[in-house]
Amino acid sequence: MPSYKPGKDAKQTERELGISDAIKLASNENPMEPIPEILAAIAEVTSGINRYADHRATQMRQTIADWQGLPTDHVTVGAGSSAILHRLVSAYVDPGDEVLYPWRSFEVYPIYTGLLDGEPVTVPLVAETADLDGLLDAISSKTKLIMIANPNNPTGTTHTADDLSSFCAAVPDDVIVVIDEAYFEFVEPRFGNSVTDLLPSHRNAVVTRTFSKAQGLAGLRVGYAMGDPEIITAIDKTQLPFAVSTPSQAAAIAAVQHADKIAVRVASIVAERARVIDEVRSWGVDVPDSQANFFYLPLGERSNDVFASMERDGVVTRLFDQLGVRITISTADENDRMLAALKGAL
Ligand SMILES: Cc1ncc(COP(=O)(O)O)c(C=O)c1O
Repeated sequence: MPSYKPGKDAKQTERELGISDAIKLASNENPMEPIPEILAAIAEVTSGINRYADHRATQMRQTIADWQGLPTDHVTVGAGSSAILHRLVSAYVDPGDEVLYPWRSFEVYPIYTGLLDGEPVTVPLVAETADLDGLLDAISSKTKLIMIANPNNPTGTTHTADDLSSFCAAVPDDVIVVIDEAYFEFVEPRFGNSVTDLLPSHRNAVVTRTFSKAQGLAGLRVGYAMGDPEIITAIDKTQLPFAVSTPSQAAAIAAVQHADKIAVRVASIVAERARVIDEVRSWGVDVPDSQANFFYLPLGERSNDVFASMERDGVVTRLFDQLGVRITISTADENDRMLAALKGAL
């Protein structure tokens, strides 16, 4: 079994290399702390944390459902969307069932599949992008679940909701298609919205999203899933008691209530993404289009050296051994530091 490897902490790098002022661009986090309205909502509930949280997260579900224009029974919540992905695998996968996903992709897919004794079936990326035709060809009578990160982690490449809808139409009805949209808020509107463009016509599809990235609540662990009530009920059955804490629920509700403020911050990261990628491409480096809050450098054998050189300059990125380097988009100042370190490394 592989273990989940979190991005390296800036402080850990400082200790290891005897440097100071390291910055972490390794985990696709939001560089800004949550908006004041979210911090206030958390502060308001902390005096009540001697009590268990609302297991059903009633108000949070209702708030998300209204926000997304869905009936409440089409929504469930979890301690991060990665917990919901785990619950989906545990709800649907019996030993020997196949779980199909593009590779390289989010590293929890093989871990969760292995934990449930499922059989991983992977389809290589084409041009760093999930190969939807290849996935269709790989479906067998044992396929239970298909997981597609959209945008893909680590490459940032993205399919339109229409393409994914055509994909779902070609998948047998008894195979669940999980569309993992942790970076949805950073995706340009021209890619469509799977909740409105895909879910109504595909009862076997489920969309997962998170408050970790755009809303900056990674440390609180709060995510949600949307889909047919039958799938939502299955996910609910696998929820550990009180998994989403009271402060997490309060923060998520405040984040939805102040979505307009969060959109302004997201726009600044999206603008920085364009600036950074344009700059790196101007050096003649290949960078796949990214719709997420990170970009990917498919540097192959050079990856480890580039990663190490940037780390010595105090810029911690994410290395995919001998394959590539993934770098989180941050504030303009941190991005400038990153660009200088990357240029030097290259
Ligand atoms: C593709 C993808 N899905 C899900 C997640 C998990 O997010 P969380 O569990 O914080 O909601 C991540 C986090 O990096 C991710 O990259």
